[in-house]
Amino acid sequence: MNADRIRSRAPTDESTLRRPLFGSTSRSNCPEMIVTIDGPAGTGKSTVARLLAKQLGFAFLDTGSMYRMIALRSLMQGIDPGNAEALEQLTLKSRMELVNGVIELDGENVEGLIRTAEVTKVASLVAQVPAVRSELVRRQREIASTNNIVCEGRDQGTVAFPHAECKFFLTAAPEERARRRQAELLAKGEHVDFEKLLQEQTARDQRDEVRSVAPLRPAEDAVIVDTTSYTVDEVVRILERTVRERAASA
Ligand code: DC
Repeated sequence: MNADRIRSRAPTDESTLRRPLFGSTSRSNCPEMIVTIDGPAGTGKSTVARLLAKQLGFAFLDTGSMYRMIALRSLMQGIDPGNAEALEQLTLKSRMELVNGVIELDGENVEGLIRTAEVTKVASLVAQVPAVRSELVRRQREIASTNNIVCEGRDQGTVAFPHAECKFFLTAAPEERARRRQAELLAKGEHVDFEKLLQEQTARDQRDEVRSVAPLRPAEDAVIVDTTSYTVDEVVRILERTVRERAASA
């Protein structure tokens, strides 16, 4: 199998995901393992997770992009984000493959379409739908079943991979998170009011935290890292050290 193209096949139960250490798919000298990174938006999670995966030679799975893809499709097809059944059908029909670190939707790289403010808002609504969540979690487990992987999202350590070897939960002060988001948008030429960003971020955090299925919270055995005053490289170093220590003592 081409290690860079990871396709979902059979349904996978989380309990079947224990694999031997130092498996052959590993491109690094770390044991085969699942590393989860959860936390709210603006904590640097995606950047950190991607860099950590690179440092370890692991695959990287951005699970937020899966919710964004369903949001994108629902917007394109005019599906009401409140129509849970239509969203479930849409999810079941959407093929997702991890290709060179990016998930493709029905064979297409849609990275450039799923980061807009509109998709961001709808993704947060789509993520409330239990049937969408369970299908996407099932796919995440399939993808992780053949790889050393760093999985990033909101429920990776609590729901998708409760037995992951290494779990992190990143936090940062709300103002700092909004400031980072503002800088990120500015770098793309978008000027967005800080207060507006902060308000929208608070609304999304609340939706993520109070939803009945897989609310955003740290797993009991997660290492919590407050990134407010750290650079991305510093956070990556902290996480990498922890993963390597865990791997060495496994
Ligand atoms: O991390 P992100 O901003 O790309 O995530 C998009 C949305 O999906 C966001 O509202 C949170 C939600 N999400 C989720 O509920 N569970 C995940 N594992 C990943 C993302």
